[in-house]
Amino acid sequence: MCGIIGYIGNQKASPILINGLLRLEYRGYDSAGISTIEKNGLSVMKDKGRVQNLYNLDGINDLEGTIGIAHTRWATHGKPSKENSHPHLDNSNSFAVVHNGIIENYNDLRKFLSDNGYIFHSQTDTEVIPNLIHYYYSKDKNNDELKILRAVQSTCKDLKGSFAIQVITKYMPDNMIVIRKDSPLVIGKGNGENYISSDIPAILSFTKDFYLLNDYEFALLSRDKIEFYDMDLNKIKKEVKSIEWSASAADKNGYEDYMLKEIFEQPNAIRETIGSRLPENEPCNFDDLNFSKEFLSKFNKMYIVACGTAMHAGLSGKIAIEKLCNIPVTVDIASEFRYRNPIIDKNTLCIYISQSGETADTIAALKLSKAKGATTLAVSNVIGSSITREADYCIYTHAGPEIAVASTKAYTSQVILLNILALYFAEVLGSVPAEEISKIKKEILALPSKIDEALKSAKSIKKFAKKIYLQKDVFFLGRGVDYNTALEGSLKLKEISYIHSEAYAAGELKHGPIALIENGVTVISIITDENLVEKTISNIQEVITRGANTLVVTNKNLPSNNINTIIEIPDTHVLLSPIVSIIPLQLLSYYISKEKGLDVDKPRNLAKSVTVE
Ligand code: AGP
Repeated sequence: MCGIIGYIGNQKASPILINGLLRLEYRGYDSAGISTIEKNGLSVMKDKGRVQNLYNLDGINDLEGTIGIAHTRWATHGKPSKENSHPHLDNSNSFAVVHNGIIENYNDLRKFLSDNGYIFHSQTDTEVIPNLIHYYYSKDKNNDELKILRAVQSTCKDLKGSFAIQVITKYMPDNMIVIRKDSPLVIGKGNGENYISSDIPAILSFTKDFYLLNDYEFALLSRDKIEFYDMDLNKIKKEVKSIEWSASAADKNGYEDYMLKEIFEQPNAIRETIGSRLPENEPCNFDDLNFSKEFLSKFNKMYIVACGTAMHAGLSGKIAIEKLCNIPVTVDIASEFRYRNPIIDKNTLCIYISQSGETADTIAALKLSKAKGATTLAVSNVIGSSITREADYCIYTHAGPEIAVASTKAYTSQVILLNILALYFAEVLGSVPAEEISKIKKEILALPSKIDEALKSAKSIKKFAKKIYLQKDVFFLGRGVDYNTALEGSLKLKEISYIHSEAYAAGELKHGPIALIENGVTVISIITDENLVEKTISNIQEVITRGANTLVVTNKNLPSNNINTIIEIPDTHVLLSPIVSIIPLQLLSYYISKEKGLDVDKPRNLAKSVTVE
């Protein structure tokens, strides 16, 4: 989704801005642009297409400005075009603005401004912002140093929806203003220079010190100072947060694509996420939660709410919590939950999972459950992200920066963290015998090497990918935990290979979808639950009889049974098997996408961080 970059310092801004945009490319976009403060006023250079194209624009090398803002746009209002690209200027060319998010009342604001003589050059919701700033600026008769901040403040009070906004103006040629509400934006603190970005990895090579803005907080930046204000323009203090991720963690490190690198990083991501949570011969360590038995016992049900892959991780969390704690758990899609008026109250624990911590639907769902009195717990990969600041409690996966749009290491890290959380709850509640708990803990600690083993399937998977990459439809089957893996495997395939795929609980097949099975159709099954082996095998036989080409991912010793390809993975506790069984399926979607010559890391129409509804 749209990306924002800003620079204020003593170096030429334009190369830094374009470089920053290149690092945000993975978020998904269709046009790009920059604006800098030049000696003779504001310059704006933008166009539709790739960030790389900015280098070829006439005059881009002549820009001397040391302050600038930049943007990659992912079209919402108005098609991808030069006019609709950001930055946008007001009618007097005095204010340049980039914006992420959606202004829901932009039609009313546009009408108001048109009635006041303003002309619009784009179809975007954003163009109202610089013009409103100009409107309030020119109406303000006081000429003090807060005049521009007041104009931005009045503008933001008029805006309904979500926004992260950067403003530069010819009236304050040594400053930049930023403000956010429900859209991500971080400020990187440098030495005599400061940076703005939609997310941390894009500016990690410049600084590891960040300020995080809450909703309706402003920052007024100069080269060597950052001042923070609340919505009433009272000065506020903010703590700088140091981020441990290394800049090289956000590079490809010799891999052809980020996705492949992230798939292979999973043993380490799991190791880091387990961290010190499983001390030897002691209960699980969640000192960030420190829940008592009395506190946990008050929850008569739990919700796990998330989107996409994070929701699939939640399905594994449900199985673990229900099995180990005997508390009913409902998994819900955030965009449904937020409009359903869910039945929750102070006796409900709502767990929100989001790799980015910035997904608009997940944040809105979290706010709703807080308003209804539920206790909220966020699971995120990004320190200080919006959901972690909104929730009552927060725990982190430590997967490192995930750049590829298709989530891999964040998913397996979420599944492991939810399993450890379920063990922790079970220990506090005393709901499972100690031997069972230590058996699972032992299996958790063995996971990194089992993932390493599963990664060795890459060669056979590549071979299988070559055979099926031209298929139009692929089916995924599984039961129990394996159904969750089928859902995630199917989503991966759709996302990056553009092959239509469906995941079904294997027992559901005969209730309809089996009508779609014909000669040559590929059916991929996952079998890791020993109680369900026979059942799933029977379902596979049903599709083999109808001519399907079959692949089975399993940790059981299966007879070949006319199955075309069997991929063997290491055995583990059934609750943990989704972490191992997803590996060959991630590799399969990767190799199919490569075989088709597609852009693995930046699939069409998708964004890494979905910050709008
Ligand atoms: C995963 O491959 C997808 N790109 C997508 O489903 C993603 O998991 C979803 O948008 C949620 O993102 P989040 O974890 O950052 O909230």
